[in-house]
Amino acid sequence: EQGYTVAIDGPAAAGKGTISKAVAAHFGFAHLDTGLLYRAVGRRMLQGEEPVTAAQSLTAEELGQGDLRTAEIAKAASKVAVIPEVRSALVDFQRAFARRVGGAVLDGRDIGTVICRNAEVKLFVTASAEVRAERRYLELAAKGDDVSREQVLADVKERDARDAERSTAPMKPAVDAVLLDTSDLSVDAALARAIEVIEMTL
Ligand code: C5P
Repeated sequence: EQGYTVAIDGPAAAGKGTISKAVAAHFGFAHLDTGLLYRAVGRRMLQGEEPVTAAQSLTAEELGQGDLRTAEIAKAASKVAVIPEVRSALVDFQRAFARRVGGAVLDGRDIGTVICRNAEVKLFVTASAEVRAERRYLELAAKGDDVSREQVLADVKERDARDAERSTAPMKPAVDAVLLDTSDLSVDAALARAIEVIEMTL
């Protein structure tokens, strides 16, 4: 039987991760942060491996091993993510996850447009580049990453441009996605809105 799927897309640090995790907990759905797949491939590329080979041999265990949420790995991830063969190697895993009985939340860039075009709910979560960079800066600084605000803003803008302009599965809202701009919303307010949208389709 086909599971119930919530697709959450949007640019870096818009609040997708926080919202996805909380939505999954609220409804008892499983959650997959699909950025981790590209980050794991990016990490393998940084270790000298060819990205397509890395994507084809990726294991679920790797996603939980070590810290994939560094600025260096984020950049590598957005580079491997433009390669069509890397993207296609990761499709089956994502679709199988989406079909889980009991419901699933997947967050990424192309979930509503490519991976799960038939998702019951699609959200596109955005915020201004400045707000997103500040959030990401605080996150990285709290972990002890040695980064500056200016550098984080430049990185966020560079990554957005690469994600939005690539020819395979560019980041964009699905035509049937509900837009959620979190620039002026608290985490609680953004989450309440996401839950409200999902409840309308349950
Ligand atoms: O979401 P996160 O910042 O972890 O994603 C890292 C990179 O992986 C993104 O900048 C994007 O290039 C790529 N990605 C993607 N498609 C997804 C998820 C992530 O291309 N569904």
